[in-house]
Amino acid sequence: MTALLEVKDLRLAFGGVKAVDGLSFDVGESEIVSVIGPNGAGKTSAFNCITGFYRPSGGRITIGGADVTRMRTSAIAARGVSRTFQNVRLFGDLPVLDNVRAGTHLWLRQHVFDALLHTPRYRRSEQQATDEAHRWLDFVGLRGDRTGAARNLPYGEQRRVEIARALARRPRLLLLDEPAAGLNHGEKLELLDLIRRIRGLGIGIVLIEHDMGLVMEVSERVVVLNFGREIADGTPEQVRRDPAVIEAYLGSDEDDEVPGGRGPTGAAGEETARADA
Ligand SMILES: Nc1ncnc2c1ncn2[C@@H]1O[C@H](COP(=O)(O)OP(=O)(O)OP(=O)(O)O)[C@@H](O)[C@H]1O
Ligand SMILES: [Mg+2]
Repeated sequence: MTALLEVKDLRLAFGGVKAVDGLSFDVGESEIVSVIGPNGAGKTSAFNCITGFYRPSGGRITIGGADVTRMRTSAIAARGVSRTFQNVRLFGDLPVLDNVRAGTHLWLRQHVFDALLHTPRYRRSEQQATDEAHRWLDFVGLRGDRTGAARNLPYGEQRRVEIARALARRPRLLLLDEPAAGLNHGEKLELLDLIRRIRGLGIGIVLIEHDMGLVMEVSERVVVLNFGREIADGTPEQVRRDPAVIEAYLGSDEDDEVPGGRGPTGAAGEETARADA
């Protein structure tokens, strides 16, 4: 069976800096693969290559078997790749609902004529976009006001809106860049449940995350990057025991967590607890 996403020997250099230096992994339908590693390891850079925002210096990326390595972001998005950002990127001044409706424009067929003339067909498609946006906001469990400006929502709610917008694009593959960052304990538990429900829709997920409890709980496989290089790839259990992984984490900044440390679901309930240290 063809993988949804296949990344082979991906490389990306910025001048002398090898941000990604030989990354390979694949993701199937309804599969969650996490990419972990210390700060600056190249995780976000890899996402930027997969989405076509950066042009890789080497390697190959395929989506559903089709080579997208040199494609534009719009062409890659049209093939069903959607993402969220490490720092939430919403249209802050726009109403929450409109942020999510924006996602539907990837597949909603609207003609300029209909829009200009406000034809019944145009109004129907606008209604369809609104209905679908509401459904995704329900799906992510948004509690706050949907008509007010997105910037007025609490941070955790803004993260949900961003995921709803990514889902409104009807992706086959969803890339989440540190979705748990800045969330409290309860919100992390809800995120865990949400990620599982997204997988339940058949969507493949690549998760970049520093919260090891979340990663270990939810991932089918984990890929570990350090200074752009892939140092491990396996099940959560294999990766947490891997000496190279433990070394990479212990040798890095204090704020990085050791894999196996307890996250949102751990008994300690503290993401900074170092179970294996
Ligand atoms: N646009 C850019 N220009 C130059 N160097 C960059 C650029 N983007 C990233 N880098 C460098 O590439 C390396 C990888 O950065 P990247 O943001 O991918 O790391 P990361 O694993 O996502 O880290 P974090 O966990 O802190 O988000 C770093 O050395 C970074 O400074
Ligand atoms: Mg990053």
